[in-house]
Amino acid sequence: MTILAVASEVFPLVKTGGLADVIGSLPKSLLPQGISTRTLIPAYPLALANCRRREAIGRLSVLGADATVWRGHCEGLELLLLDCPELFERRGGPYIDGHGRDFHDNWRRFAVLSAAAAQIAAEGIGGWRPDVVHLHDWQAALTAAYMRAAGLDLPIVLTIHNLAFQGQFPAGVFPALGLPDHFSSVDCLEYYGDISYLKAGIRLSDAVTTVSPTYAREILTEEQGMGMAGVLQSRRQVLSGIVNGIDQTIWNPFTDPHIPQNYDARSIDRRRVNRTMIERQFGLTPGDGPILSVISRLTWQKGIDLLAPLVSGIVERGARLIILGEGDPGIVYGLLEQVRQHSGHVVIHVGYSEESAHLLHAGSDIVLQPSRFEPCGLTQLYALRYGAIPIVARTGGLAETVIDANEAAASAGVATGFKFHPGSSDDLYHAIHRALTAFDNVDFWRELQTQAMRTDFGWSRSAERYARLYRQLVRSRVAARREA
Ligand code: ADP
Ligand code: GLC
Repeated sequence: MTILAVASEVFPLVKTGGLADVIGSLPKSLLPQGISTRTLIPAYPLALANCRRREAIGRLSVLGADATVWRGHCEGLELLLLDCPELFERRGGPYIDGHGRDFHDNWRRFAVLSAAAAQIAAEGIGGWRPDVVHLHDWQAALTAAYMRAAGLDLPIVLTIHNLAFQGQFPAGVFPALGLPDHFSSVDCLEYYGDISYLKAGIRLSDAVTTVSPTYAREILTEEQGMGMAGVLQSRRQVLSGIVNGIDQTIWNPFTDPHIPQNYDARSIDRRRVNRTMIERQFGLTPGDGPILSVISRLTWQKGIDLLAPLVSGIVERGARLIILGEGDPGIVYGLLEQVRQHSGHVVIHVGYSEESAHLLHAGSDIVLQPSRFEPCGLTQLYALRYGAIPIVARTGGLAETVIDANEAAASAGVATGFKFHPGSSDDLYHAIHRALTAFDNVDFWRELQTQAMRTDFGWSRSAERYARLYRQLVRSRVAARREA
């Protein structure tokens, strides 16, 4: 079976967050199921630079834009790069310019990606055709509209990685999308007077998945449905949650080339070398107290604003804090103030560094993830795998991948971290306090780390679920055609 995956980022070519990790790892885990994937992404300059093994396999003209399609190979992935310089050859990130502002024509950039995907699904490219089309997030979601407008009856799966991003644009852009008029109706694109690409994807795909069963339930509620609860309820029969896995070859402390000292669950003591390296690299005052790390987008979603008022209490308990991330300037400002007040004990590195992320997982004692909502979250999975104990909010994928060290779980030997009520500073402080107390109990802490590192967060079970879903959809298409 062949899948055309459509997305806006893929690791290792271009990454702004967990979406890229999933797009880069799911295809490899589907191979043992006899499923091969080609992933279509925009040919941003960075993507082209990082994918040198490639050949041009076709030219497309969609919505007045001309593009070359490159077929590329990179670290076990088969890629299709949509090379349209007018739209994708820009300075900045995949979505924002060098000043941090959304590109003014994102509506067109990702409409062109989607229209190109639909054309590839319909006509094939370089002699290749998909059996199923798998769309990821709003940037790819309009593919469903283009496919249905063309009368193309291939199965479509839409995965929502984060409902907060809905591809919402003024209704005035609709005529330029080249879709039949009736697609602008409330049954499809219309969204509170605007249009939403994600809504079109939800309405028109055969199956809608999200990245954890808990988040799949949460988004059906008014509180967490972000305006889309009604639309999702109308598709609840086809909505399911499949939890993300991690690439255990890239995120493996025993073989990780980014860390000075490799280790596994039987040699956890060796983490100490990585810890010393962290102190040196980040300019922390050396000490025996625990190192707490944040590796995250610094945003309201991630609950990072809850931290600044707690820093003094954390430092008074003899712990040190490192923050690696970029995001909301107000949140960064608040944290910088804490860095000034607690020099040597609190450090912030504003920026993005894959290497530092690996080192922080490998040497920190605790990783904080205080998200207000979290569809799945990969950081806590990397932390667990590396024996850094996660403190997480009880929401979305965080709720189901970390086992709180309450008395029952601790005595049963199954605990892997600490949980608190999302959005509550007091409760977060209480969880940090519990973790710091546990850290002082050397044997118990070792038990937590061992249990965390032994948990299996590989892709195999979730890949099986995607495979089953693809097969089901193909089978029901074949049955429907036979009946017709
Ligand atoms: P999200 O995709 O919502 O940001 P996830 O937890 O799913 O959250 O994934 C975040 C990914 O981005 C992880 O791979 C994490 O290591 C990485 N990451 C986030 N911020 C940084 C940073 N500043 N430097 C390096 N990696 C980062
Ligand atoms: C989104 C979500 C995150 C999830 C990631 C990959 O960025 O915010 O929770 O892990 O997608 O699915």
